[in-house]
Amino acid sequence: MDISRAVRLLRAGELVGIPTETVYGLAADAANPAAVAKIFAAKGRPADHPLIVHIADGAQLPLWAKDIPDAAYQLADAFWPGPLTLILKRQPTVPDAVTGGQDTVGLRVPNHPLTLELLRMFTAAGGSGGVAAPSANRFGRISPTTADHVREELGDAVPLVLDGGPCAVGIESTIVDLSRGTPVILRPGAITAADIERVLHTDTVRPEPVEGREASPRVSGSLDAHYAPTTPLRLVASADLQRAVEDELAAGRRCAVLSFQAIAPRHGLQHYPASHDPAGYAHDLYAALRNLDQSGAQVILVEDLPQGPHWLAVKDRLTRAACGSGVA
Ligand code: TXA
Ligand code: MG
Repeated sequence: MDISRAVRLLRAGELVGIPTETVYGLAADAANPAAVAKIFAAKGRPADHPLIVHIADGAQLPLWAKDIPDAAYQLADAFWPGPLTLILKRQPTVPDAVTGGQDTVGLRVPNHPLTLELLRMFTAAGGSGGVAAPSANRFGRISPTTADHVREELGDAVPLVLDGGPCAVGIESTIVDLSRGTPVILRPGAITAADIERVLHTDTVRPEPVEGREASPRVSGSLDAHYAPTTPLRLVASADLQRAVEDELAAGRRCAVLSFQAIAPRHGLQHYPASHDPAGYAHDLYAALRNLDQSGAQVILVEDLPQGPHWLAVKDRLTRAACGSGVA
């Protein structure tokens, strides 16, 4: 069976593509630095970018983290398994290859039956119980939400991709840093600041100050350019969209559009309807970006999103996709 094979590969220091509810991950035994090094090689990712360690349940937290605040257990109880990553002070045994040499470690229990079973079997087989896994895309590119996307991105670099179907959430986990006292959201996701505040009974959760973002690679998704298609992508205000489409077509450019509003069919134009519901939008986002990127269009226009906390995470991904786009 594939899960047993995956466990054998992990124990042998090899890589496995794993499904999660957010995006597919590229997994290696988190206790094996040589295995973790293969992740960076396969992704083309700078080695100082820390990885999230995926564990089977919250009871394993003390194996990886120390000085664990109550808030961590409260959030784990409320949201695990689920799309939330906690940044905590690390145990000294966690390899530097995983943490990028920082004194913290990112931990999460993913909510996918295949991967939870894999993590349980990996623990039972005497493994460390933790798998380090970034999103299974090449560095800076669109995260994969199906097993086929992983094969497209990484090909032969991964001996096995567990196929768990399309990811239910579709964008990466919310990251909350609990290592510095005040909880700080480092990356927005399906679990919002309000969700976290409700559990912690605090209104102190705040986004990382924008001016600090470029300064360190603590969260690679926080580099301005990320999640990016190779076709130039622009976010366009709703009121300007029809005109922008006309202008692109008039300039002789084939154009792909992701929008809430209807766009009349035209030669040289491909239209993808966007979901009006933020969860539906997130679910479809990366597959849509891949399709748009592969559509033969010379420019991608995306209708700007509504305001509001539930749109924050997809807005974040689209802004970065726009910023990093157009580089082959
Ligand atoms: O939903 C997810 O989180 C997916 C699935 C596979 O679990 N994983 C994911 O991994 O998005 P990755 O590596 O693409 O993004 C994880 C982010 C990175 O940007 C990394 O910098 C940040 O988590 N991170 C990991 N450990 C950290 C730490 N100790 N301190 C600050 N940021 C950390
Ligand atoms: Mg990523």
